[in-house]
Amino acid sequence: MSTIYLNGEFLPRSEARLSIDDRGFIFGDGIYEVTRVVDGTLFESNRHLRRLGRGLADMRLSPSESLADIEEISLRLLRENAMTEGEGMIYLQITRGAAPRTHYFPPANTPCTVFLAPQRFVVPHDKRSTGVSVVTTPDTRWSRCDIKTVNLIPAVLARQYAVDCGVFEAIFVRDSAITEGSHTNFFGVLDGELRTYPASNYILGGVTREVVIEVARELGVPFVERQFHVQDLPRLEEAFLTGTTTDVMPVVQIDGRQVGSGRPGSITMQLYDGLARRLYGNVPAAFAR
Ligand code: PDD
Repeated sequence: MSTIYLNGEFLPRSEARLSIDDRGFIFGDGIYEVTRVVDGTLFESNRHLRRLGRGLADMRLSPSESLADIEEISLRLLRENAMTEGEGMIYLQITRGAAPRTHYFPPANTPCTVFLAPQRFVVPHDKRSTGVSVVTTPDTRWSRCDIKTVNLIPAVLARQYAVDCGVFEAIFVRDSAITEGSHTNFFGVLDGELRTYPASNYILGGVTREVVIEVARELGVPFVERQFHVQDLPRLEEAFLTGTTTDVMPVVQIDGRQVGSGRPGSITMQLYDGLARRLYGNVPAAFAR
């Protein structure tokens, strides 16, 4: 039985209740965060909180909990759920609260709904050793993909398309450019240069993306924020996905065509090792190569 946080209370998950008038339910009028947990600590907490703060401002949401409160609540949930060891994540969602349905904002005194829940998860190390396949799909999302809104319909449909195709992820194509995955950012290596779609309103500014870019700079890997077009894909030497629940995941096949050698690339795995050092303080022996 896990303990969650909902609107000022810590309570068993099975006892949590939401109003059917909640604007998260009615309109998808809310935002979320997924933060990685390693041995009871929040990985890159400040980056997640900064992105949350920007999202709240863009959405004009004002929860009564401050960003510092959110961090404190997260840590308390880890303690109360005995998650001070091992791998997990904290899911956070803030909506514009419950009020009679109107497209415009509810009365100013309507409290936001604030929900946090911890979850254990198994890191996909097995997939990392072989790499994964992905498929491309049209990017039908709106033009504020930088806001981590719970309106995830295109992502849900895209990920299901990937599942239907028997692959790990679907990557979005907008105006012939690869933007990102349904729940990941996309990187590739072409002519020895690491590239990913520029931080903009057309992608989510991933926390893992930022960390991997820092690692690339530390390692001296040539890097540029520039999009790949679909016609570049056959020439990719390496490709990978990044995300809180994905880490650095090598991509070895796109739309059925092999990427590079068909095995996880060496730049990709150096970047994974750099990320693992930040996550764990070292590269765990179980998956050091
Ligand atoms: N997804 N792009 C999209 C569209 C995402 O939904 C995510 C995260 C990312 C990677 O961001 P980060 O490195 O900060 O996790 C990129 C989360 C994990 C999810 O929806 O579960």
